[in-house]
Amino acid sequence: MVDSLAPRQAIIAPMILPLSRPAHQTPVDLVPRIQQLKRELNAVILAHYYQADEIQDVADFIGDSLQLAREAAHTTADTIVFCGVHFMAETAKILSPAKQVLLPDLAAGCSLADSAPAAEFAAFKAAHPDHVVVTYVNSSAAVKALSDYCCTSSNAVAVVNSIPRSTPIIFAPDRFLGDYVARLTGRELVLWEGSCEIHELFSAQAIAELKQAHPGCVTLVHPECPLAVRDLGDVVGSTKALLEAVKHGPATATYLVVTEPGIIHQMRKARPQATFLMAPAFVKGDAKGSCTSCNTCPHMRRNTLEKLYWCMRNRAPEIRLDPELIARARLPIERMLAIG
Ligand code: 13P
Repeated sequence: MVDSLAPRQAIIAPMILPLSRPAHQTPVDLVPRIQQLKRELNAVILAHYYQADEIQDVADFIGDSLQLAREAAHTTADTIVFCGVHFMAETAKILSPAKQVLLPDLAAGCSLADSAPAAEFAAFKAAHPDHVVVTYVNSSAAVKALSDYCCTSSNAVAVVNSIPRSTPIIFAPDRFLGDYVARLTGRELVLWEGSCEIHELFSAQAIAELKQAHPGCVTLVHPECPLAVRDLGDVVGSTKALLEAVKHGPATATYLVVTEPGIIHQMRKARPQATFLMAPAFVKGDAKGSCTSCNTCPHMRRNTLEKLYWCMRNRAPEIRLDPELIARARLPIERMLAIG
């Protein structure tokens, strides 16, 4: 077998990956090599539920945004290898600035974070001077630094409820999560008009038809979805909450999963006899919303096992942030973590 993982001289830019391997060669088993690098670096691999199955399987900890932030804040490892998107790795760096934080592909972005450029957000904030700013963690460090509180989909309701009712609130950047929080708290929130490019595409019509075709199925919806889709959910919650609903739900039920399908890997492990249906989404030119692959997050899926290996091997790409920005962005995250 030709070893396509022979030592490389220079740090390899992420776009060069994945490794090209002639078709006749046996794939190299990267898992033991990643485990070995983990020991050498005293590293911990944190993975979001939307990562590819094989990345979840090699991770030390898998979780939703809140769980991963907590883990990043408390780990004793020297290096955090973050298998998720850029804002998640950035949050880990903000919480553990002395540690090296690696991200297999620096281009793994987020449409929500991209929807709120810091300069525009600063102007929006300036137009509402008496408002407290609550920002979803799906935002850049610069936007976090302009915020009073951060939140995740797990704790957004609790964070908003912790603020006196007389205080007006800006909620950014996800307008659908903001609408969900406004309805649950009975608060009027000033919303930034951002959305997740995956969750906004789920089709209420196609989901309603699937529910009819599978009577008794349990519909699990992430709160980044529009109201018409959330209204069809038996459970609406963060990825962790949806996984918990499966763990505590009927063992042989049919579950209709209205979020990124990476989460189904852990759901199947929890309930091997259950049936999991991926919710369809809209694709351009499709009036009904019947695309079953448009629900996969292209940013999350930029990370691959090969890129994970090379980032550990090269100790790059690494998240680097200005210490002064870290100090400002840290405060709203710490306020969120204190709320629980
Ligand atoms: P969770 O915190 O529910 O895992 O959500 C993360 C996310 O980015 C959803 O698109």
